[in-house]
Amino acid sequence: MVMTSIEGSSVLITGGGSGLGEAIARHFVALGARVTVAGRRGDKVEAVAASLGGLCRSVRGDVSIGEDRTAILDAALEHGSGLTTLINAAGNMYRGPLDELDEDRLLTLFHSNVVGPMKLTGQALPALRQSRGSVLFFGSVHTQRAFPGASPYAATKGALETLAGVLAAELGPSGVRVNAIRPGGVPTEINQRAGLGTDEENLKRMQGLASAHALGRIGTGQEIAEGAAYLATADWVTGTVLTVDGGLALGVTNA
Ligand SMILES: NC(=O)c1ccc[n+]([C@@H]2O[C@H](COP(=O)([O-])OP(=O)(O)OC[C@H]3O[C@@H](n4cnc5c(N)ncnc54)[C@H](OP(=O)(O)O)[C@@H]3O)[C@@H](O)[C@H]2O)c1
Repeated sequence: MVMTSIEGSSVLITGGGSGLGEAIARHFVALGARVTVAGRRGDKVEAVAASLGGLCRSVRGDVSIGEDRTAILDAALEHGSGLTTLINAAGNMYRGPLDELDEDRLLTLFHSNVVGPMKLTGQALPALRQSRGSVLFFGSVHTQRAFPGASPYAATKGALETLAGVLAAELGPSGVRVNAIRPGGVPTEINQRAGLGTDEENLKRMQGLASAHALGRIGTGQEIAEGAAYLATADWVTGTVLTVDGGLALGVTNA
């Protein structure tokens, strides 16, 4: 298999100001990519870019807003002289019992997690066709294991995993690959941002999940970044969902 090289490629990472997006930015810059990180909080993406030097630039923007998507894409095209890889890592969490879900919050979640990434990917197509590049969506173990009360989040992640297949078929003829990655538990700020407890409470909850992973531990951003790098370079892999979860989706049951 001939692998595309990450060195010298142009990579746009939404949600690059924290968590898995930030870890991917660090890994891809270490491999020599020109990386643009985007997010709604300018200070977060600026701090990541400042710590990574000239190969990384930041742009403030919300993927659920059309004008922001244009600005995000323009920044990446300028910084990388084109676009090789679009990594849709931006995402939000919303949980609650089904009969208490707020419609506005549901729509906001779907706008951020599904509609925004779809529209951004559509806007990026001319550049991706030119580079015969690839797109990555973020699924979740929530599509494989049922977490009661997490239906809004799980539904958005199911949509993204489905998109990887449909868009791989739609864009394959123009040489654009589309995949998804399905992480297991990695401590990041997504739960805290959703108001689901303090940093400490969320870390404790995440660590409580360690034994549900076949490998007995939660993961690291670097481990997810290595999966993302594989999908960015595997020239004959499209329409797949790569599970990188320490065996969480297996649902290990010692009966
Ligand atoms: N951590 C896990 O265990 C895990 C497991 C499975 C899947 N995932 C997925 O991994 C992806 C990254 O999440 P994470 O865990 O790294 O959490 P995170 O640290 O909260 O990262 C998500 C990032 O997305 C940005 N973001 C959210 N909405 C946005 C919008 N509308 N426009 C632009 N940026 C936006 C956030 O920054 P701003 O608020 O500044 O915009 C934040 O930096 C998500 O899609 C998540 O669903 C995570």
